Amino acid sequence: MKPYYITTPIYYVNSDLHLGHAYTTVLADVFTRFHRLLGREAFFLTGDDEHGQKVLEAAQRAGISPKELCDRMSVRFRDLWTRLNIDYSHYIRTTDPGHVTVVQAMLQRLHDGGHLYAADYEGQYCVPCERFYTEKDLVDGGCPECHRPVELLKERNWYFRMSAFQDWLVAHIEANPDFILPHTRRNEVLGFLRQPLRDLCISRNKERMSWGIELPFDTDYVCYVWVDALLNYVSGAGLGQDGERFQSLWPADAHLIGKDILTTHCVYWPTLLKALDIEAPKSFLIHGWWLAGEQKMSKSLGNVVQPLDLIDRVGVDAFRFFLIREMVPWNDSSFSAELLVKRVNTDLANDLGNLLSRVTNLAARHFDGNLPAATGATGGGALRQAAELLVEGMEQRLERMDLYGLLEQVFGLLRLGNQWMEQCAPWKLVKTEAEAAGHVLADMAELLRLCASLLHPVMPVLCTRMLERLGAEAPARDGLCWKERGVGRIVHGDPLVPRMDEEAFLASLAPPAESTTADAPVPAAPGKTGDSSSPVGEGLIAFGDFGKVKLVAARILAAQPVKGADRVLQLSVDCGEVQARTIVAGIAADHAPESLPGRMICVVANLEPAKIRGILSQGMLLAAKGPQGLALLDPGPVPPGTPIG
Ligand code: ME8
Ligand code: MG
Repeated sequence: MKPYYITTPIYYVNSDLHLGHAYTTVLADVFTRFHRLLGREAFFLTGDDEHGQKVLEAAQRAGISPKELCDRMSVRFRDLWTRLNIDYSHYIRTTDPGHVTVVQAMLQRLHDGGHLYAADYEGQYCVPCERFYTEKDLVDGGCPECHRPVELLKERNWYFRMSAFQDWLVAHIEANPDFILPHTRRNEVLGFLRQPLRDLCISRNKERMSWGIELPFDTDYVCYVWVDALLNYVSGAGLGQDGERFQSLWPADAHLIGKDILTTHCVYWPTLLKALDIEAPKSFLIHGWWLAGEQKMSKSLGNVVQPLDLIDRVGVDAFRFFLIREMVPWNDSSFSAELLVKRVNTDLANDLGNLLSRVTNLAARHFDGNLPAATGATGGGALRQAAELLVEGMEQRLERMDLYGLLEQVFGLLRLGNQWMEQCAPWKLVKTEAEAAGHVLADMAELLRLCASLLHPVMPVLCTRMLERLGAEAPARDGLCWKERGVGRIVHGDPLVPRMDEEAFLASLAPPAESTTADAPVPAAPGKTGDSSSPVGEGLIAFGDFGKVKLVAARILAAQPVKGADRVLQLSVDCGEVQARTIVAGIAADHAPESLPGRMICVVANLEPAKIRGILSQGMLLAAKGPQGLALLDPGPVPPGTPIG
């Protein structure tokens, strides 16, 4: 059987990733792990999208080269995936030389095949979406996708004869009912294809936008970022570099995407592939959006949840679990911290963790960890029957990508286990009928083993620990059924998922109390004591108060005088974020602007921004007033953004 090949979108490096990106990637990781668990080889491709106007603009804002921005962001993206335990097979960057070569070869192939032509075009252009629209497409005069203003552009460009493949695409979608899932999205695409399909502009004039891959047949242009990006799915599988690998992987089994990029994937991509004479992928899986309140969680709207904040608080496995358990993939889902706590407490701490703890405790205490065979007689066989039913339908559920339903079933089974545990009360039974209690516990332990094996793709670390406590083997295909001798010597230990304190958790997420002292983000005068109204005492602050101050190492990128204010300088500072910060600092008397670029400093990064001399200052630097004037605190040779504390 060919390896299962699954992809995520490659994410734009113009800003940090949020919960929505984490969702797609965790979902792909879970599918990958499930296929591996079922004994099938799986290849999982993810990566980042580095060319195009958005990225160029972000680099310009940050005052660095686009490549530098990409390098920096790409590291941050991969760090997040490591933190989230994402086991990808290959990470692709669209600036990888291998990818660039493939894109140019494919463009040349399209050109040679007569699928491209040059023409003058005038149209409404949306910069953030990098797409041309006709007047008719516009919604209230703005971009139909992101609703931002569009601009009228006229230029000569290269076009892909996409229209020539319209009939083929409609026929292909109709002949392959599961090509686009769910079917609501399939209908949406078919609806779109009822209008005549226009040709696709695949070039960008270098004079306007040069950050891209050069067209091999016309060096005045770079390739439209979407054509470049879509080709990652073939270049990342080895096309043009490792032919054997590509042969074994293509066609992709599943392109996992959010509904925001439906047309580019389900219309542009298959028609491009058809023109290139490459087989279409087997399926597109389109999930809904995580919302913040009613709105799409989005980088450009700024209403995002940072995954790292949550991972630190709830742990990686609980976070992954929440994403997969909470969202019916085909619908939108609202994020809320309350829901997260409820899921962790109800499902993980209670239904799963509590049952494990009770079973291991009793098994260790009364049976020295050695239980009899799990005959499945508990509840007149009801428990075992429910487990076997689940296993029977499991592969079909996975084939339909119904992870949500599968988790529902697993937790249904655990609830059933808990009910029988209450009913049989082995903690009482053990005093009068030890053997009967042993049988109940054996069934419960087997139930837990089976559930831990099934949940392993979602929570690899937690489930591995569960299996260890049960003395069971690592999850494998032949362990995905009821086994009479599935568990080994059982050991008891601390709760694997402690209950979360909801109130404390929600309070820890609340934004920090508003600062009232941000009017002068320049170093405090020397010798000034602490706030005398402090409850701790004159000159002292509480330990927790200090913890609220976020100090980071930063590098000065540029410094300039401020008109009409000879005490202060305006600094552009790299705090390890995508965008440089502006800081206005009262250091002009002791430091010439030209002496500052390149120097490392310490910055208070979570100070409320304040206008100073009409300039918005986004932080404060630390300095000590010595006899020779203000000495800037130097954190030493660490990368910008390194926390100090
Ligand atoms: O579109 N809810 O990159 P992108 C759920 N580079 N998923 C979300 C989401 C949300 N609120 N927000 C983002 C691009 N996503 C292109 C893709 S592929 C050849 C090129 C996820 O950084 C979801 O998977 O805007 C969505 O499709 C993707 O991130 C868009 O990421
Ligand atoms: Mg987007």
